[in-house]
Amino acid sequence: MNAQTAMTGPILKVEHLSMKFGGLVAIGDLSFEARRGEITALIGPNGAGKTTVFNCITGFYKPSEGMITLTTSAGNQYLLERLPDFQIPAKARVARTFQNIRLFSGMTVLENLLVAQHNKLMVASGYTILGLLGLGNYRKASGESVELAKYWLERADLIDRADDPAGDLPYGAQRRLEIARAMCTGPELLCLDEPAAGLNPRESLALNDLLNGIKATGTSILLIEHDMSVVMKISDHVVVLEYGRKISDGDPASVKSDPRVIAAYLGVDDSEVDDVLSDTGNEQVAEELNGEPDRAHGPADSASMLAGPIVDTVGHSEDEDEVVKVDPGASKAEQYEHRLAISNALAAPKGGKPDKLTLIKGIGPVNERKLHEHGIFHFEQIAGWTEADVKAAEAYLDFDGRIAREDWIGQAKAFAAKSGGVE
Ligand SMILES: Nc1ncnc2c1ncn2[C@@H]1O[C@H](COP(=O)(O)OP(=O)(O)OP(=O)(O)O)[C@@H](O)[C@H]1O
Ligand SMILES: [Mg+2]
Repeated sequence: MNAQTAMTGPILKVEHLSMKFGGLVAIGDLSFEARRGEITALIGPNGAGKTTVFNCITGFYKPSEGMITLTTSAGNQYLLERLPDFQIPAKARVARTFQNIRLFSGMTVLENLLVAQHNKLMVASGYTILGLLGLGNYRKASGESVELAKYWLERADLIDRADDPAGDLPYGAQRRLEIARAMCTGPELLCLDEPAAGLNPRESLALNDLLNGIKATGTSILLIEHDMSVVMKISDHVVVLEYGRKISDGDPASVKSDPRVIAAYLGVDDSEVDDVLSDTGNEQVAEELNGEPDRAHGPADSASMLAGPIVDTVGHSEDEDEVVKVDPGASKAEQYEHRLAISNALAAPKGGKPDKLTLIKGIGPVNERKLHEHGIFHFEQIAGWTEADVKAAEAYLDFDGRIAREDWIGQAKAFAAKSGGVE
Protein backbone atom coordinates (compact mmCIF):
# COMPACT_ATOMS: atom_id res chain seq x y z
CA MET A 1 0.00 0.00 0.00
CA ASN A 2 1.41 3.42 -0.84
CA ALA A 3 1.41 6.35 1.57
CA GLN A 4 -1.39 8.19 -0.23
CA THR A 5 -3.80 5.24 -0.08
CA ALA A 6 -2.77 4.63 3.54
CA MET A 7 -3.71 8.17 4.54
CA THR A 8 -7.31 7.69 3.43
CA GLY A 9 -7.84 4.24 4.99
CA PRO A 10 -8.37 3.41 8.67
CA ILE A 11 -5.28 3.31 10.87
CA LEU A 12 -6.61 0.31 12.80
CA LYS A 13 -8.88 -2.47 11.64
CA VAL A 14 -10.05 -5.07 14.14
CA GLU A 15 -11.74 -8.05 12.49
CA HIS A 16 -13.57 -10.90 14.23
CA LEU A 17 -11.45 -10.58 17.33
CA SER A 18 -12.10 -13.12 20.09
CA MET A 19 -10.29 -13.63 23.36
CA LYS A 20 -11.16 -16.48 25.67
CA PHE A 21 -9.87 -17.07 29.16
CA GLY A 22 -10.65 -20.67 30.00
CA GLY A 23 -14.44 -20.84 29.67
CA LEU A 24 -14.95 -17.08 29.68
CA VAL A 25 -15.39 -15.22 26.40
CA ALA A 26 -13.91 -11.82 27.26
CA ILE A 27 -14.24 -10.63 23.63
CA GLY A 28 -16.57 -12.29 21.13
CA ASP A 29 -16.29 -11.75 17.37
CA LEU A 30 -15.53 -8.04 17.66
CA SER A 31 -14.99 -5.95 14.53
CA PHE A 32 -14.46 -2.20 14.36
CA GLU A 33 -12.23 0.42 12.77
CA ALA A 34 -10.39 3.47 14.08
CA ARG A 35 -10.09 6.19 11.45
CA ARG A 36 -6.81 8.04 10.98
CA GLY A 37 -6.50 11.37 12.75
CA GLU A 38 -9.65 10.79 14.82
CA ILE A 39 -10.44 10.05 18.43
CA THR A 40 -12.24 6.70 18.66
CA ALA A 41 -13.73 5.88 22.04
CA LEU A 42 -14.24 2.34 23.27
CA ILE A 43 -16.85 2.38 26.03
CA GLY A 44 -18.93 -0.11 27.98
CA PRO A 45 -19.72 -1.25 31.51
CA ASN A 46 -17.14 -2.70 33.88
CA GLY A 47 -15.85 -6.04 32.65
CA ALA A 48 -17.11 -5.45 29.08
CA GLY A 49 -13.69 -6.37 27.64
CA LYS A 50 -12.26 -2.92 26.84
CA THR A 51 -8.86 -3.41 28.46
CA THR A 52 -8.65 -6.87 26.93
CA VAL A 53 -9.03 -5.28 23.47
CA PHE A 54 -6.10 -2.97 24.30
CA ASN A 55 -4.07 -5.91 25.56
CA CYS A 56 -4.64 -7.69 22.23
CA ILE A 57 -3.75 -4.58 20.19
CA THR A 58 -0.55 -3.94 22.14
CA GLY A 59 0.63 -7.55 22.17
CA PHE A 60 0.11 -8.25 25.90
CA TYR A 61 -2.35 -10.99 24.94
CA LYS A 62 -2.38 -13.13 21.84
CA PRO A 63 -6.04 -13.26 20.74
CA SER A 64 -7.78 -16.60 20.40
CA GLU A 65 -9.07 -15.57 16.96
CA GLY A 66 -9.19 -12.59 14.65
CA MET A 67 -7.04 -10.08 12.87
CA ILE A 68 -5.79 -6.65 13.95
CA THR A 69 -4.32 -4.63 11.09
CA LEU A 70 -2.44 -1.41 11.67
CA THR A 71 -1.52 0.75 8.66
CA THR A 72 1.12 3.42 9.23
CA SER A 73 1.03 6.73 7.38
CA ALA A 74 3.95 5.49 5.25
CA GLY A 75 1.70 2.66 4.04
CA ASN A 76 3.30 -0.20 5.99
CA GLN A 77 0.78 -2.73 7.25
CA TYR A 78 1.28 -4.85 10.37
CA LEU A 79 -0.80 -7.70 11.69
CA LEU A 80 -0.50 -6.86 15.36
CA GLU A 81 -1.61 -10.27 16.61
CA ARG A 82 1.46 -11.73 14.90
CA LEU A 83 4.02 -9.06 15.73
CA PRO A 84 6.22 -9.73 18.80
CA ASP A 85 5.03 -7.34 21.53
CA PHE A 86 8.32 -5.38 21.75
CA GLN A 87 8.06 -4.54 18.03
CA ILE A 88 4.57 -3.07 18.33
CA PRO A 89 5.70 0.37 19.60
CA ALA A 90 8.86 0.46 17.47
CA LYS A 91 7.53 -0.77 14.13
CA ALA A 92 3.78 -0.32 14.18
CA ARG A 93 4.11 2.95 16.18
CA VAL A 94 1.46 2.10 18.76
CA ALA A 95 1.80 3.46 22.32
CA ARG A 96 -0.46 2.97 25.31
CA THR A 97 -1.16 4.06 28.84
CA PHE A 98 -2.52 1.78 31.55
CA GLN A 99 -5.68 1.75 33.61
CA ASN A 100 -3.44 1.72 36.71
CA ILE A 101 -0.79 4.42 36.37
CA ARG A 102 2.64 2.94 35.66
CA LEU A 103 5.37 5.51 36.08
CA PHE A 104 8.90 5.25 37.45
CA SER A 105 7.84 7.06 40.60
CA GLY A 106 11.38 7.52 41.99
CA MET A 107 12.62 9.14 38.76
CA THR A 108 11.99 12.75 37.96
CA VAL A 109 9.30 13.80 35.53
CA LEU A 110 11.93 14.62 32.89
CA GLU A 111 13.74 11.32 33.42
CA ASN A 112 10.50 9.44 32.82
CA LEU A 113 10.23 11.12 29.43
CA LEU A 114 13.87 10.42 28.54
CA VAL A 115 13.67 6.74 29.52
CA ALA A 116 10.73 6.42 27.12
CA GLN A 117 13.14 7.34 24.33
CA HIS A 118 15.78 4.81 25.37
CA ASN A 119 15.33 2.61 22.27
CA LYS A 120 15.84 5.49 19.89
CA LEU A 121 19.00 6.53 21.77
CA MET A 122 20.43 3.02 21.80
CA VAL A 123 19.93 2.72 18.05
CA ALA A 124 21.74 6.06 17.63
CA SER A 125 24.64 4.81 19.75
CA GLY A 126 25.07 1.82 17.47
CA TYR A 127 24.92 -0.23 20.72
CA THR A 128 28.62 0.47 21.40
CA ILE A 129 30.39 2.36 24.15
CA LEU A 130 32.23 4.37 21.52
CA GLY A 131 28.92 5.27 20.01
CA LEU A 132 27.72 6.46 23.40
CA LEU A 133 30.82 8.50 24.16
CA GLY A 134 31.48 9.67 20.64
CA LEU A 135 30.20 12.53 18.62
CA GLY A 136 27.76 12.27 15.78
CA ASN A 137 24.51 10.39 15.97
CA TYR A 138 24.16 9.78 19.68
CA ARG A 139 24.79 13.36 20.75
CA LYS A 140 22.35 14.63 18.15
CA ALA A 141 19.71 12.08 19.12
CA SER A 142 20.21 12.85 22.80
CA GLY A 143 19.69 16.59 22.18
CA GLU A 144 16.56 15.82 20.18
CA SER A 145 15.23 13.61 22.98
CA VAL A 146 15.56 16.42 25.51
CA GLU A 147 13.82 18.80 23.11
CA LEU A 148 10.97 16.35 22.54
CA ALA A 149 10.63 15.80 26.30
CA LYS A 150 10.50 19.57 26.86
CA TYR A 151 7.88 19.94 24.15
CA TRP A 152 5.56 17.37 25.74
CA LEU A 153 6.23 18.72 29.23
CA GLU A 154 4.91 22.05 28.05
CA ARG A 155 1.94 20.56 26.24
CA ALA A 156 1.01 18.54 29.33
CA ASP A 157 1.49 21.57 31.58
CA LEU A 158 4.23 19.83 33.58
CA ILE A 159 7.25 21.97 32.77
CA ASP A 160 7.34 23.49 36.30
CA ARG A 161 7.50 20.00 37.81
CA ALA A 162 10.21 18.65 35.46
CA ASP A 163 12.73 17.98 38.25
CA ASP A 164 10.30 16.59 40.83
CA PRO A 165 9.96 12.84 41.40
CA ALA A 166 7.03 11.58 39.34
CA GLY A 167 5.58 9.92 42.46
CA ASP A 168 5.19 13.32 44.13
CA LEU A 169 2.86 14.70 41.47
CA PRO A 170 -0.87 14.95 42.12
CA TYR A 171 -2.91 12.22 40.51
CA GLY A 172 -4.16 14.25 37.51
CA ALA A 173 -0.62 15.38 36.70
CA GLN A 174 0.60 11.78 36.83
CA ARG A 175 -2.06 10.87 34.28
CA ARG A 176 -0.87 13.68 31.98
CA LEU A 177 2.74 12.57 32.46
CA GLU A 178 1.86 9.05 31.35
CA ILE A 179 0.35 10.49 28.17
CA ALA A 180 3.38 12.76 27.60
CA ARG A 181 5.65 9.75 28.06
CA ALA A 182 3.70 7.75 25.48
CA MET A 183 3.88 10.71 23.07
CA CYS A 184 7.68 10.83 23.41
CA THR A 185 7.82 7.46 21.63
CA GLY A 186 6.35 9.16 18.52
CA PRO A 187 3.24 6.99 18.11
CA GLU A 188 0.82 7.10 15.19
CA LEU A 189 -1.83 5.41 17.34
CA LEU A 190 -2.12 6.32 21.02
CA CYS A 191 -4.22 3.94 23.16
CA LEU A 192 -5.41 5.46 26.45
CA ASP A 193 -7.04 3.26 29.10
CA GLU A 194 -9.34 5.42 31.25
CA PRO A 195 -7.17 8.56 31.34
CA ALA A 196 -9.89 10.55 33.15
CA ALA A 197 -10.40 8.04 35.97
CA GLY A 198 -10.11 9.81 39.32
CA LEU A 199 -9.75 13.29 37.82
CA ASN A 200 -11.70 16.24 39.15
CA PRO A 201 -13.75 18.30 36.66
CA ARG A 202 -10.98 20.89 36.19
CA GLU A 203 -8.41 18.17 35.47
CA SER A 204 -10.88 16.49 33.12
CA LEU A 205 -11.10 19.71 31.09
CA ALA A 206 -7.29 19.98 30.97
CA LEU A 207 -7.19 16.39 29.74
CA ASN A 208 -9.69 17.17 26.97
CA ASP A 209 -7.44 20.01 25.81
CA LEU A 210 -4.36 17.79 25.87
CA LEU A 211 -6.09 15.06 23.86
CA ASN A 212 -7.47 17.53 21.32
CA GLY A 213 -3.93 18.97 21.01
CA ILE A 214 -2.54 15.48 20.35
CA LYS A 215 -5.21 14.87 17.74
CA ALA A 216 -4.22 18.15 16.08
CA THR A 217 -0.66 16.84 15.64
CA GLY A 218 -2.12 14.04 13.48
CA THR A 219 -1.86 11.22 16.03
CA SER A 220 -4.90 8.94 16.08
CA ILE A 221 -6.32 8.11 19.50
CA LEU A 222 -8.14 5.05 20.78
CA LEU A 223 -9.70 5.95 24.08
CA ILE A 224 -11.25 3.78 26.78
CA GLU A 225 -13.27 5.99 29.06
CA HIS A 226 -16.13 5.80 31.56
CA ASP A 227 -16.46 9.56 31.93
CA MET A 228 -19.20 10.42 29.44
CA SER A 229 -18.40 14.13 29.68
CA VAL A 230 -14.98 13.34 28.16
CA VAL A 231 -16.28 10.78 25.65
CA MET A 232 -19.13 12.87 24.28
CA LYS A 233 -17.11 16.06 24.02
CA ILE A 234 -13.98 14.88 22.28
CA SER A 235 -14.70 11.64 20.41
CA ASP A 236 -15.32 11.52 16.69
CA HIS A 237 -16.52 7.95 16.83
CA VAL A 238 -17.73 5.68 19.63
CA VAL A 239 -17.76 1.87 19.81
CA VAL A 240 -19.75 0.31 22.65
CA LEU A 241 -19.03 -3.11 24.14
CA GLU A 242 -21.11 -5.20 26.50
CA TYR A 243 -19.98 -8.66 27.60
CA GLY A 244 -17.28 -8.56 24.92
CA ARG A 245 -19.76 -7.96 22.09
CA LYS A 246 -20.22 -4.80 20.10
CA ILE A 247 -23.66 -3.35 20.77
CA SER A 248 -23.31 0.04 19.06
CA ASP A 249 -20.92 1.87 16.73
CA GLY A 250 -21.31 5.40 15.40
CA ASP A 251 -20.92 9.09 16.13
CA PRO A 252 -21.35 10.23 19.76
CA ALA A 253 -24.88 11.61 19.27
CA SER A 254 -26.27 8.44 17.68
CA VAL A 255 -24.58 6.18 20.24
CA LYS A 256 -25.92 8.28 23.10
CA SER A 257 -29.51 7.74 21.97
CA ASP A 258 -29.07 4.06 21.08
CA PRO A 259 -31.42 2.07 23.37
CA ARG A 260 -28.90 -0.73 23.81
CA VAL A 261 -26.36 1.75 25.08
CA ILE A 262 -28.84 3.35 27.42
CA ALA A 263 -29.70 -0.07 28.77
CA ALA A 264 -26.17 -1.42 29.00
CA TYR A 265 -23.97 1.51 29.74
CA LEU A 266 -26.00 4.07 31.53
CA GLY A 267 -27.18 1.51 34.01
CA VAL A 268 -30.89 1.40 33.25
CA ASP A 269 -32.58 -2.01 33.48
CA ASP A 270 -34.05 -3.41 30.25
CA SER A 271 -37.57 -3.07 31.64
CA GLU A 272 -37.03 0.63 32.19
CA VAL A 273 -35.57 1.47 28.81
CA ASP A 274 -39.01 2.05 27.29
CA ASP A 275 -39.76 4.66 29.95
CA VAL A 276 -36.48 6.43 29.42
CA LEU A 277 -36.93 6.40 25.66
CA SER A 278 -40.43 7.79 25.76
CA ASP A 279 -39.16 10.46 28.16
CA THR A 280 -36.50 11.39 25.66
CA GLY A 281 -38.92 11.18 22.71
CA ASN A 282 -37.28 8.08 21.28
CA GLU A 283 -40.32 5.83 20.78
CA GLN A 284 -39.09 4.51 17.46
CA VAL A 285 -35.92 3.04 18.97
CA ALA A 286 -38.02 1.58 21.76
CA GLU A 287 -39.91 -0.47 19.17
CA GLU A 288 -36.62 -1.61 17.67
CA LEU A 289 -35.46 -2.71 21.07
CA ASN A 290 -38.50 -4.86 21.57
CA GLY A 291 -37.46 -6.93 18.55
CA GLU A 292 -34.79 -9.62 18.49
CA PRO A 293 -31.25 -8.90 19.71
CA ASP A 294 -29.03 -7.73 16.87
CA ARG A 295 -26.97 -10.78 15.97
CA ALA A 296 -25.05 -8.81 13.37
CA HIS A 297 -23.31 -6.98 16.19
CA GLY A 298 -21.87 -10.01 17.88
CA PRO A 299 -21.95 -13.76 18.37
CA ALA A 300 -25.03 -15.60 19.52
CA ASP A 301 -25.56 -15.83 23.26
CA SER A 302 -23.25 -18.41 24.63
CA ALA A 303 -23.39 -20.24 27.90
CA SER A 304 -19.62 -20.01 28.00
CA MET A 305 -19.93 -16.26 28.40
CA LEU A 306 -21.58 -16.74 31.72
CA ALA A 307 -20.12 -19.94 33.05
CA GLY A 308 -16.75 -21.50 33.61
CA PRO A 309 -13.76 -20.73 35.76
CA ILE A 310 -11.88 -17.51 35.22
CA VAL A 311 -8.28 -18.53 34.89
CA ASP A 312 -5.25 -16.62 33.83
CA THR A 313 -4.38 -18.40 30.62
CA VAL A 314 -1.90 -15.87 29.36
CA GLY A 315 1.71 -15.11 30.01
CA HIS A 316 1.43 -11.40 30.50
CA SER A 317 -0.95 -9.79 32.88
CA GLU A 318 -1.22 -6.30 34.31
CA ASP A 319 0.52 -5.58 37.55
CA GLU A 320 -2.31 -4.56 39.85
CA ASP A 321 -0.03 -3.87 42.77
CA GLU A 322 1.62 -0.74 41.53
CA VAL A 323 1.38 1.93 44.17
CA VAL A 324 0.58 5.43 43.03
CA LYS A 325 2.02 7.95 45.43
CA VAL A 326 0.17 11.21 45.44
CA ASP A 327 1.48 14.31 47.10
CA PRO A 328 -0.59 14.55 50.31
CA GLY A 329 -0.81 18.37 50.36
CA ALA A 330 -1.74 18.71 46.73
CA SER A 331 -4.15 15.86 46.87
CA LYS A 332 -6.00 17.39 49.82
CA ALA A 333 -6.36 20.68 47.98
CA GLU A 334 -7.64 18.83 44.95
CA GLN A 335 -10.02 16.70 46.94
CA TYR A 336 -11.42 19.85 48.51
CA GLU A 337 -11.80 21.45 45.14
CA HIS A 338 -13.61 18.54 43.59
CA ARG A 339 -15.83 18.09 46.61
CA LEU A 340 -16.93 21.70 46.17
CA ALA A 341 -18.91 20.63 43.11
CA ILE A 342 -21.51 18.87 45.31
CA SER A 343 -22.23 20.52 48.62
CA ASN A 344 -22.83 17.48 50.83
CA ALA A 345 -20.03 15.23 49.57
CA LEU A 346 -18.28 13.03 52.15
CA ALA A 347 -14.68 11.89 52.36
CA ALA A 348 -15.83 8.32 53.06
CA PRO A 349 -19.08 6.41 53.56
CA LYS A 350 -20.56 6.68 57.06
CA GLY A 351 -19.75 3.60 59.08
CA GLY A 352 -17.56 2.50 56.16
CA LYS A 353 -20.61 1.17 54.31
CA PRO A 354 -22.26 2.94 51.35
CA ASP A 355 -25.98 2.50 50.59
CA LYS A 356 -26.90 0.52 47.49
CA LEU A 357 -27.40 3.55 45.22
CA THR A 358 -28.23 1.33 42.24
CA LEU A 359 -31.66 0.82 43.84
CA ILE A 360 -32.47 4.30 42.52
CA LYS A 361 -33.86 3.87 39.01
CA GLY A 362 -31.41 5.52 36.63
CA ILE A 363 -28.29 4.76 38.68
CA GLY A 364 -26.34 1.79 37.38
CA PRO A 365 -23.03 0.42 38.60
CA VAL A 366 -21.03 2.85 36.46
CA ASN A 367 -22.82 5.91 37.81
CA GLU A 368 -22.70 4.54 41.32
CA ARG A 369 -18.92 4.36 41.04
CA LYS A 370 -18.75 7.90 39.68
CA LEU A 371 -20.92 9.15 42.52
CA HIS A 372 -18.64 7.41 45.01
CA GLU A 373 -15.67 9.13 43.39
CA HIS A 374 -17.45 12.40 44.11
CA GLY A 375 -18.16 11.62 47.73
CA ILE A 376 -21.81 10.55 47.37
CA PHE A 377 -22.46 7.27 49.19
CA HIS A 378 -25.89 7.55 50.86
CA PHE A 379 -29.54 8.02 49.91
CA GLU A 380 -29.80 10.83 52.42
CA GLN A 381 -27.08 12.77 50.60
CA ILE A 382 -28.98 12.62 47.28
CA ALA A 383 -32.21 13.38 49.17
CA GLY A 384 -30.57 16.59 50.41
CA TRP A 385 -29.24 17.83 47.08
CA THR A 386 -29.84 21.46 46.19
CA GLU A 387 -30.60 22.64 42.67
CA ALA A 388 -26.91 23.51 42.25
CA ASP A 389 -25.92 19.99 43.36
CA VAL A 390 -28.23 18.44 40.77
CA LYS A 391 -26.70 20.69 38.10
CA ALA A 392 -23.17 19.71 39.18
CA ALA A 393 -24.02 16.00 39.19
CA GLU A 394 -25.71 16.23 35.79
CA ALA A 395 -22.74 18.06 34.32
CA TYR A 396 -20.41 15.42 35.66
CA LEU A 397 -22.54 12.49 34.50
CA ASP A 398 -23.42 14.28 31.24
CA PHE A 399 -27.14 13.75 31.93
CA ASP A 400 -29.05 16.81 30.82
CA GLY A 401 -32.19 17.04 32.97
CA ARG A 402 -32.22 13.32 33.68
CA ILE A 403 -31.85 13.48 37.45
CA ALA A 404 -34.94 15.66 37.76
CA ARG A 405 -36.83 13.62 35.17
CA GLU A 406 -36.17 10.41 37.01
CA ASP A 407 -36.72 12.10 40.34
CA TRP A 408 -33.58 10.76 41.96
CA ILE A 409 -34.20 13.04 44.94
CA GLY A 410 -37.73 11.70 45.50
CA GLN A 411 -36.52 8.12 45.12
CA ALA A 412 -33.59 8.77 47.46
CA LYS A 413 -35.93 10.28 50.07
CA ALA A 414 -38.09 7.16 49.96
CA PHE A 415 -35.09 4.83 50.36
CA ALA A 416 -33.57 7.01 53.09
CA ALA A 417 -36.90 7.00 54.96
CA LYS A 418 -37.07 3.19 54.70
CA SER A 419 -33.62 2.87 56.20
CA GLY A 420 -34.47 5.41 58.89
CA GLY A 421 -32.23 8.17 57.47
CA VAL A 422 -34.43 11.20 56.72
CA GLU A 423 -38.17 11.86 56.82
N1 LIG B 1 -5.98 -12.46 32.37
C1 LIG B 1 -7.26 -12.74 32.54
N2 LIG B 1 -7.67 -13.97 32.95
C2 LIG B 1 -8.97 -14.26 33.09
N3 LIG B 1 -9.97 -13.41 32.85
C3 LIG B 1 -9.64 -12.18 32.46
C4 LIG B 1 -8.28 -11.76 32.27
N4 LIG B 1 -8.25 -10.46 31.85
C5 LIG B 1 -9.55 -10.08 31.79
N5 LIG B 1 -10.37 -11.10 32.14
C6 LIG B 1 -11.84 -11.08 32.21
O1 LIG B 1 -12.30 -10.60 30.97
C7 LIG B 1 -13.44 -9.75 31.13
C8 LIG B 1 -13.14 -8.41 30.54
O2 LIG B 1 -12.20 -7.71 31.37
P1 LIG B 1 -11.59 -6.30 30.99
O3 LIG B 1 -10.59 -5.96 32.02
O4 LIG B 1 -11.15 -6.32 29.57
O5 LIG B 1 -12.88 -5.37 31.13
P2 LIG B 1 -13.00 -3.78 31.04
O6 LIG B 1 -14.07 -3.50 30.05
O7 LIG B 1 -11.66 -3.17 30.80
O8 LIG B 1 -13.54 -3.43 32.51
P3 LIG B 1 -13.27 -2.13 33.44
O9 LIG B 1 -14.20 -1.07 32.95
O10 LIG B 1 -13.66 -2.62 34.81
O11 LIG B 1 -11.83 -1.79 33.35
C9 LIG B 1 -13.71 -9.71 32.63
O12 LIG B 1 -14.69 -10.67 32.91
C10 LIG B 1 -12.37 -10.09 33.22
O13 LIG B 1 -12.54 -10.69 34.48
MG1 LIG C 1 -10.47 -1.93 31.91
